[in-house]
Amino acid sequence: ALITTKEMFKKAYEGGYAIGAFNISDLEQLQGVLEGAKAKNSSVIIQASKSAIEYAGPHTLVEMVKAASDEIGVDVALHLDHGPSLEAVKMCVEAGFSSVMIDGSHYDFEENVRITKEVVDYAHAHGVVVEAELGVLAGVEDEVSSDVHKYTDPDEAKEFVERTGVDSLAIAIGTSHGAFKFKGEAELKFDILEEIQAKLPGFPIVLHGASAVDQNSVATCNEFGGNIAGAKGIPVDMLRKASSMAVCKINMDTDLRLAMTAAIRKYLAENPAQFDPRKYLGAGRAAIQAVVESKIEDVLGSANSA
Ligand code: G3H
Ligand code: 13P
Ligand code: NA
Ligand code: ZN
Repeated sequence: ALITTKEMFKKAYEGGYAIGAFNISDLEQLQGVLEGAKAKNSSVIIQASKSAIEYAGPHTLVEMVKAASDEIGVDVALHLDHGPSLEAVKMCVEAGFSSVMIDGSHYDFEENVRITKEVVDYAHAHGVVVEAELGVLAGVEDEVSSDVHKYTDPDEAKEFVERTGVDSLAIAIGTSHGAFKFKGEAELKFDILEEIQAKLPGFPIVLHGASAVDQNSVATCNEFGGNIAGAKGIPVDMLRKASSMAVCKINMDTDLRLAMTAAIRKYLAENPAQFDPRKYLGAGRAAIQAVVESKIEDVLGSANSA
């Protein structure tokens, strides 16, 4: 069944772990994530960006997630990732999502408060929880891009949460979207996270752009015809530390994309006569399940939380 993140985050905060939020846009990714969560008896969040929802179709996506959740036997929150507007949020709530993000991080503080508050009022009236974002991650975020991190200000975070009534908050402490996060040494501002946690005790924090960019997946892609150069993610020990703190939701998309692509490239290269999509998509699905299981063990600490 579809559930909200309320109970999940409460348990995660108290238990010192985080819930994985995995981006999907198709059946195999969905099943891979749910099978991985099921195997580890872990809570899980399925999320889809606006472009992923357009790709799959909003109603197709909702019905597919509900059916897979029941068939596989794992409750799941279905979340809109980086919702750009109240209009996009309404579309998802009407389609049946249980959680939405309104991403006003590229607006000034007052406008971010205004648009977030508007979404919170609407979503809460429909039993849907809301994530917002304060601070800007370097890199490309859907249609918005920034060259530098604009770290979240802890005092602003407190004011923002109090004025909007939002259920969780994504912050900028040095993570970024995509496969090319760092040129030099990885650095996360744990002092900022600590300050936010002290000012907002018990409040769930979200980390975006948290893929580790597994170098084995990159190497497999490149070995079987790919050309991915300079990819670098967040070190696993930093993510584990964040999970043990106020961070209750960790977003990962790139790691699933890389694992699926590596598995499909390898399968097709090693089985050149095969043309049944279930074979190579099935290999991609199994790779996603393996990534999700290892995230639950090594990064999130959420095994047996379901
Ligand atoms: O934060 C962005 C997610 O990785 C989704 O990316 O808009 O290409 O689906 P997308
Ligand atoms: P990655 O690109 O690091 O996987 O982050 C995904 C994300 O934050 C989706 O909102
Ligand atoms: Na946590
Ligand atoms: Zn994101």
